[in-house]
Amino acid sequence: MNAIDCIKGRRSVREFTPEPVSHDLLAEVVEVARFAPSWKNTQISRYVALEGDMKAKLAAECVGEWNANIINKAPMVVVQTFVKNRSGFERDGSFTTSKEDRWQNFDAGIAAEAFCLAAHEKGLGTVILGMFEDDKVASVLSLSEDMGVASLIAIGHPAVSPEAPKRKEVSDLLSYMS
Ligand SMILES: Cc1cc2nc3c(=O)[nH]c(=O)nc-3n(C[C@H](O)[C@H](O)[C@H](O)COP(=O)(O)O)c2cc1C
Repeated sequence: MNAIDCIKGRRSVREFTPEPVSHDLLAEVVEVARFAPSWKNTQISRYVALEGDMKAKLAAECVGEWNANIINKAPMVVVQTFVKNRSGFERDGSFTTSKEDRWQNFDAGIAAEAFCLAAHEKGLGTVILGMFEDDKVASVLSLSEDMGVASLIAIGHPAVSPEAPKRKEVSDLLSYMS
């Protein structure tokens, strides 16, 4: 699959077959996602794969009904965590730019896309879930204070092939100045 087909063909998948995601296949996805660019190559994203009771607990305690339904139908949900206070920070702990700590979310977003594209290329379906309660996810995972939660990514073997939601035209997105 070439890069353009992969980018254009990836869809958010919210229905999955019961087939589990093999741990070897998930490792292959992360092996690709680790090549995502990051602030000063800080590589802050970490991936915690939940199955079974832990996945059910996350669905029951950390998200609303819509996302709980997706997670309950997926064989696995990956919690994308990140090491706080590295991306966008100087060694003395001060912010490098006026975006303050927001580069860490920027880096996590790039990594999440790389993760989802790699999964798509390997035949897996994913959907990034942003509607969750950070504190509750951190508590369920017993995350240490130096880690944050960037996203949840439901992952599995797709049971559907959704149409692409409508995209804006290039003319709406691109402008020039000289
Ligand atoms: C940051 C982010 C948060 C999202 N949160 C949710 C979510 O909480 N629940 C959900 O069903 N989809 C969520 N989505 C999926 C979007 O709805 C989806 O990407 C968008 O509709 C475009 O569809 P596509 O991914 O198939 O191109 C999220 C996507 C992103 C990038």
